[in-house]
Formats: sequence, C-alpha cells, structure tokens
Amino acid sequence: MSTDVPEDFILQRSSRDAGAMAGAVSAWLATQLPAGAEPEVVLSGGSDANGMSSETILADVTWTEDGTRRAGGFVVRMAPSAADVPVFASYRLDHQYDALRLVDRLSDVPVPTPRWLEPTGDVLGAPFFFMERVEGIVPPDVMPYTFGDNWFFDASPEQRRRLQDRTIAAIAGLHQIPDAEETFAFLDDRDRTGPTPLRRHFEKTRAWYEWAVEALDRSALIDRALLWLDGNWPEADVPNNVVLSWGDARIGNVLYDDFAPVAVLDWEMAGIGPRELDLGWLVFAHKVFQTLAETFELPGLPDVLREEDVRATYADLTGAQVGDLRWFEIYSGLIWGVVFMRTGARQAHFGEIELPDDVDTLFHHAPLFRGLLDDAEQRGSGATDRKVGA
Ligand SMILES: Nc1ncnc2c1ncn2[C@@H]1O[C@H](COP(=O)(O)OP(=O)(O)OP(=O)(O)O)[C@@H](O)[C@H]1O
Ligand SMILES: [Mg+2]
Repeated sequence: MSTDVPEDFILQRSSRDAGAMAGAVSAWLATQLPAGAEPEVVLSGGSDANGMSSETILADVTWTEDGTRRAGGFVVRMAPSAADVPVFASYRLDHQYDALRLVDRLSDVPVPTPRWLEPTGDVLGAPFFFMERVEGIVPPDVMPYTFGDNWFFDASPEQRRRLQDRTIAAIAGLHQIPDAEETFAFLDDRDRTGPTPLRRHFEKTRAWYEWAVEALDRSALIDRALLWLDGNWPEADVPNNVVLSWGDARIGNVLYDDFAPVAVLDWEMAGIGPRELDLGWLVFAHKVFQTLAETFELPGLPDVLREEDVRATYADLTGAQVGDLRWFEIYSGLIWGVVFMRTGARQAHFGEIELPDDVDTLFHHAPLFRGLLDDAEQRGSGATDRKVGA
C-alpha cells in the first residue's frame, strides 16, 4: 500500500477487520451485560452472496450467566464510514434498531431480535448494534437467483409459490401494525416539506439524488422519472393508507427455512407511506433480476412475483385493495438508480472502474427502468390524479 495514504485511514479501514475490533467490542459488551459476565467476542466476515455493503459481521459471543459459561451467535450491523463513499447521504442506524425492536414487539413477523446498540461511534468509529443470528438461507443476488444453479431456482413451482405467498404474508403483517404513522413517526422525514409521508419520502429521495449528482453527473433517466412521478402523483397516497414500509422489500433480504421467512432483514430504507411502496418494490426487484436473466438469454423465473399474483395474494390476506403499482415501480427504479450512482462512485473512488460519461450506463436495471418510463410517458397522465401530492 502506498505510504502517502494517511495512517489513520488505513487503520480505520483495517479496523473493520474482525480480529482488531473484537477486543473493543468485548470491552464494550461488558458494560451492557450484568457485572461478572466477562463476555468474549469473536468476529468474522459477513456473507458476500447478498448485499453490496460489507457492514454485516458475524459475532460469536461467550459470557458467564448464573455461574456457567454460555455461548450465542449474533450478527453485528455497523454504519458505513464516510471514507467508504457510502450509499446514503445520512445513515440512522439507531432508526433501524428502533424499527426492528418495534416490529419484534408489535407483530408476528419474524425479525432478528435486536440486542445491544452502540449509537455513539466511540467504540469502533461508527455506530453498531447486535442482533440475534437466525439460521436460514437467502435467494442469492450474486449471481442473481434467476440465473439458475441455486436452491430457489431449483425448487419446485409449488415451493417457489409458497415462498412468494409467505413473503407477501410477512409484508402484510408489517403493514398491519396499527397506528404506523404515530408508532414509526421517527422514520418520517419531517424536515422535508410536503403534506403526506409519501411526499416527504419523495423529497428526501430527490435530495439524496442531488447529493449523488455532486459526485457524478445528472442521470437522464432519473430526471425523467422525477418529472413523471411528480406530475402523476398516485391515488394511493391517502391518509388511511399509511403503513410501516420495510423499504428494501425483496426476497434477497429474507432468510428462509422450508420456503417460509424466518427473518426479515435489511431495514436501512425503512419508512412510512402507502402499502404500495413495498409491493411495487417487491415486484420491481424481481423484474430487475428477470430482465437481467433474459439479457443473457436465460429463461429466468417469469412466473415468480407477477404483479397480478402479488396483488391478489395481498388482497386475500388483508382485505385491502392494492392501487396501481406503476408509479411505485418507477419510484423503485429511481431509488435503485441512485444506489447504482453511489456504488459506481465508490468503485471509481477505489479505482475499480472509470467514471462513465453517461451516468445511466451504471444502471444494471436501465432497460427495465427505461421501458417502464417510456410506457408511462406514452400513456400520459390519465390514469392518476394530482389531488394529494401536487
Ligand atoms: N440476523 C441475521 N442472522 C443471520 N444472518 C444474517 C442476519 N443479518 C444478516 N445476515 C446475513 O447477512 C446478509 C446481508 O444482510 P443484510 O441484507 O441485512 O445487509 P446488506 O447486505 O448490507 O444490505 P444491502 O442488501 O442493502 O446491501 C444476509 O443475506 C444474511 O446472509
Ligand atoms: Mg441486503
């Protein structure tokens, strides 16, 4: 490594190496547990098969309780450091922790029980929390599960359908937590101006995009999407349709056992808003993987997570009618685009790629996103109204 890299920077990046962190974490955990627990923490790297960020670390902990030595498996979720060119403009690990705690307490939806939060960053240079480790398997992102050669692809249609329906049931369970607007008010970005949680969600996304633009350039696709979304505000944005939104609601963020969720993961994009936020994201995320497979002339899984099936299952489970998902799919495409802008900026920062002239070439979902936008623009704005958000 070049000697002109500041030493504290090297230290900070390598301090993310499990071994160097374990001592500090053990000492801190001793302050969280009853006296005499004498916890010892062994850390190891997170899974690489899912997720772009490596901020998920496995922790094996031993401690003394009632005079005997006990052992438990945990996962440590850590806030990304600024030096790593983070995806998000601001990162509230405490909000993830609080959302998990509330979901754990207020619903039957399986989530990893969160345990101890270090909110200050004093121990490791960034906030972190412990959650219980759950045994299960995840449909892979790398290579995408639609490419074949993985447990989800190789399952029977009935098993895949069971996974789909049970996932929708989990999402429905999240949405059925009562009084979400008050209970999860901390997830609503009150600093943004706008009459509804969705409007504020949208304005926060817009500000996040403008922040991403500073490191790159404008995206023609995202600029088109912003214009269309703004001018075609969805009918679903009404006061009696405000639920907890998991955020990154896709099957690649769920641990499964026997094709049923055992832990709903990844709460960094949690918010509040219409139920269609999560449903549009769920459908869109699968479409991204399906179009990718088709690009490589693979069959993919065209029968999985089709919009009409998702809508029908959700309505059966909840009695709630799901509005048009098109707006929410395009909104998902916009958010995916900003994520790809930031992961592109990070790769360029670490010398892995050259920054492209056209930002949109960073978008793995560009053909799908463009297709949805072309279609929406051609159809005009007749299908929606501007009552609430405009
Ligand atoms: N509580 C847990 N128990 C067991 N495994 C977990 C737990 N939390 C996370 N994991 C493992 O770590 C992987 C990544 O977790 P998660 O999706 O929460 O973070 P991420 O990948 O950093 O997020 P993103 O998908 O936004 O990049 C999961 O696919 C899973 O294999
Ligand atoms: Mg993830």
